[in-house]
Amino acid sequence: MKNTLSRLYKKDKLTMITAYDALFAKLFDDIADIILVGDSLNMSFFGESDTLSATIDQMIYHTKAVCNGAKKAYIVTDMPFGTYNTPQKALENAIRIYKETKADAVKLEGGEEKAKTIKLLSDNAIAVVGHIGLMPQFSRSEGGYKVKGKDEISREKLLRDAKAIEEAGAVMLVIEGVKEEVAKEITKSVSIPTIGIGAGRYTKGQVLVWSDMLGFFDEFKPKFVRRYLDGAEIVRSAVRKYKDDVISGKFPGEEEIY
Ligand code: KIV
Repeated sequence: MKNTLSRLYKKDKLTMITAYDALFAKLFDDIADIILVGDSLNMSFFGESDTLSATIDQMIYHTKAVCNGAKKAYIVTDMPFGTYNTPQKALENAIRIYKETKADAVKLEGGEEKAKTIKLLSDNAIAVVGHIGLMPQFSRSEGGYKVKGKDEISREKLLRDAKAIEEAGAVMLVIEGVKEEVAKEITKSVSIPTIGIGAGRYTKGQVLVWSDMLGFFDEFKPKFVRRYLDGAEIVRSAVRKYKDDVISGKFPGEEEIY
């Protein structure tokens, strides 16, 4: 049965994971409540050093693939950098995502300054997930990936952001890279579910990037990532074994030929 918002709202804890293709979306579908087609795909799938060059066409292509693989999970698609810098542009691009894919919601980064945009999208029947705290699309302008909520000014700003996003009609809120006690306070202060990444233990749900948590990206592990699989090493050793078998003539064998 499809995970609708009302079903998600009834759950105590929510599990969100990213996916960028049908193969992995199908594997995650029966387990995760929510699949995020994150613009992190520009880094982990496409090999860029940040998310900024992700395009709307790229997001639509990957969202279609994810929707082909996942029939049950609630599907959220990131609006990439530069596609929602005015409310009207956001509406046009979000409508494109809704028309061309089966995404259930779009996600956009930004706090109170994005409230008008979130309201316009919500008023036009598009479900919006907010994203506050460390916002990867701000990494270039802020000169890196900075944890938020470390001082009183930052804490107050985050609380204002969360409230404004909720009042604008967002259905969910991702909180990234925020001190645990501030993420806890935000979670208590809003009635929409909060989904944390690097935001401690008290958000309603958690999200991880699939290639980080399954260890396929093994060059660097942020503190908040738990690796549940040594994916990169498993793949490397399997491909090494395949190569050895080709060289030694063990592959293909009797049972693998016509
Ligand atoms: O793009 C992404 O994968 C995200 C998560 C890090 C929340 O936005």
